[in-house]
Amino acid sequence: MARTVSSYICQSCGAASGKWAGRCEACGAWNSIVEEAPREGGFAPREKAGASGTRARRARAVPLEPMQGDAAPPPRRTTGIAELDRVTGGGLVAGSALLVGGDPGIGKSTLLLQAAAALATAGCRVAYISGEEAVDQIRLRAARLGLGAAPLLLAAATGVRDILAALEGPEAPEVVIVDSIQTMYVDTLDSAPGTVAQVRAAAHELIRHAKRRGAALLLVGHVTKEGTIAGPRVLEHMVDTVLYFEGERGYHYRILRATKNRFGPADEIGVFEMTGKGLVEVANPSALFLAGHAEGVAGSAVFAGIEGSRPLLVEIQALVTPAPPGSPRRAVVGWDAGRLAMVLAVLAARCGLSFGAADVYLNVAGGLRIGEPGADLAVAAALVSALLERELPEGMVAFGEIGLGGEVRAVAQHDTRLREAAKLGFRHAMVPAVSAEGEKALAAPKGLKIAPLGHVRDLVRLVAGEDLGLTRAAQ
Ligand code: TYD
Ligand code: MG
Repeated sequence: MARTVSSYICQSCGAASGKWAGRCEACGAWNSIVEEAPREGGFAPREKAGASGTRARRARAVPLEPMQGDAAPPPRRTTGIAELDRVTGGGLVAGSALLVGGDPGIGKSTLLLQAAAALATAGCRVAYISGEEAVDQIRLRAARLGLGAAPLLLAAATGVRDILAALEGPEAPEVVIVDSIQTMYVDTLDSAPGTVAQVRAAAHELIRHAKRRGAALLLVGHVTKEGTIAGPRVLEHMVDTVLYFEGERGYHYRILRATKNRFGPADEIGVFEMTGKGLVEVANPSALFLAGHAEGVAGSAVFAGIEGSRPLLVEIQALVTPAPPGSPRRAVVGWDAGRLAMVLAVLAARCGLSFGAADVYLNVAGGLRIGEPGADLAVAAALVSALLERELPEGMVAFGEIGLGGEVRAVAQHDTRLREAAKLGFRHAMVPAVSAEGEKALAAPKGLKIAPLGHVRDLVRLVAGEDLGLTRAAQ
C-alpha cells in the first residue's frame, strides 16, 4: 500500500513534515510551512511506460570500477568574461548546472545576459529564457548594454515542459540560461511557482535535461544568503556550482562568490562594477577598495587579505571616542562583531589598553565583508592607532591572526599577501613572526620592509613609535 507522503514543506529550508506547524523544526523559521501536493514524478519519457515505477524488477548490479585510471578533465567553455571564468574555475562545464543566487536587483540578469551575449558572439548556441521579462524587454536591455547584435536566442516562458521541448533537436542550445527558477512551473504539480516543491521539480527537470544533452545550465535564483526565499537550500544540493552575487547598497561594485563548486575551487571571487553600460570587470580589486584611502590618519590600517586565491588589500578604519556614561557602543561594518569584542578584550588583558570608557566603531572601507581571522592584526593596529591617536607608519599593510594569549599567529598565503602589497607600492608590512609556510616565506619581496610580530605588545610598541629593531631590510 502506498504511504501517504508528508506534504507540509518549509518554504525556507525545504524540510518536509506530516503536519502543519507555526515554526519549522528544522530551521526555526516562523510561518514558513505550506501544504504542498505530493510530487507525481517527472515527465521525461520513462524507459518502460505503463509500469508503475515501484513494481519490483530484477536487480541489475551496478558495475564497480577500480579507482585507478585516466579521467579527462570536463570540457569547458570560457564565457569571455574573465571574472566569471575565474569564479567558475575556468569556464562553464558541459552537462553541469550552475546556480547564480543573490538579492533581487543586484544584477544577476545583467551578468547572465552579458555572459550569454559573449558566448553567442563566440559562436556558441545560447538560449536565454526569462520567466520575468518579456522578450522585448530583454532586447531593450541588451541594446542598452550594447549587445543588441549578439546572435542570442530568447524566450519568455515559465512552463518547464514547453521550455524543454524547445531545447531538443540537433540545433539544441549548448548553454541554457533560466531566469529565474522561482518563476518556473511544472504542470504535474498543483503548487504555485516559487514554492519549494515547484522550484525543486523544475530544477530537477532542467538539470536532468542538461545532463542528458550535455548542455551547460545556468539558473538564476532570487536568494539571500540567509535563504529566506523559497528553495535556495534545496537548490544548492541539486546543482554543481553555486555562485552568490553580492554587493552593498549604495556601492557600485558587485562580488561574485563561489560557495560550492564541483569542478573548481570554492571561495573564489570575481569583482565587477555596475555602470550605466552594465557590469564591468574589475581586474585589480585592491586598487578599487583602496581608492580614497587617506594616508596619515590615525585609526586607519590596510589589511592584506586573501579572497579565494586572490590577494585583496582593504582599508580598515577604527574610531574610538569617549563614551557617555552607560554601556559603550561597539559598531562594526564589514567584520564580525564577536571578533572585534575578542580583539578588544585581548588588547585590554595583554597590553593594558582600555577601551571600556570609549565607543568603538570599526569599518571595512568600501563596504566589503571580511570573513578571515587573518584580519585581526590589521584591526588591532587600527584600534591601537585610533586609541593612541598615532598614525601607522606610511605605506604599511598588516595581516595575522591574534590568539587569546595575545600571540600573533601565522595565516595562510603569507607570500602572496606580501607580493600584492609590494606590487601596489606599500613599503612596510606587519606580519606574524612565524609563517604557516615556514621560515623561508618570511623573506620580503623587493621594496618591502617587514616587521615580524610575535605578540600584540610588539604592535602597541610599534604604533607608539618605538623602534623595535624589528624591521628587516628588503632582500
Ligand atoms: P538586474 O540584472 O535586473 O538584477 P537582478 O536580475 O539580480 O534582479 O539589475 C538591475 C539593476 O541593475 C537595476 O537596479 C539597474 C541596474 N543596472 C545598471 O546600473 N546598469 C545597467 O546597464 C543595467 C542593465 C542595470
Ligand atoms: Mg533579474
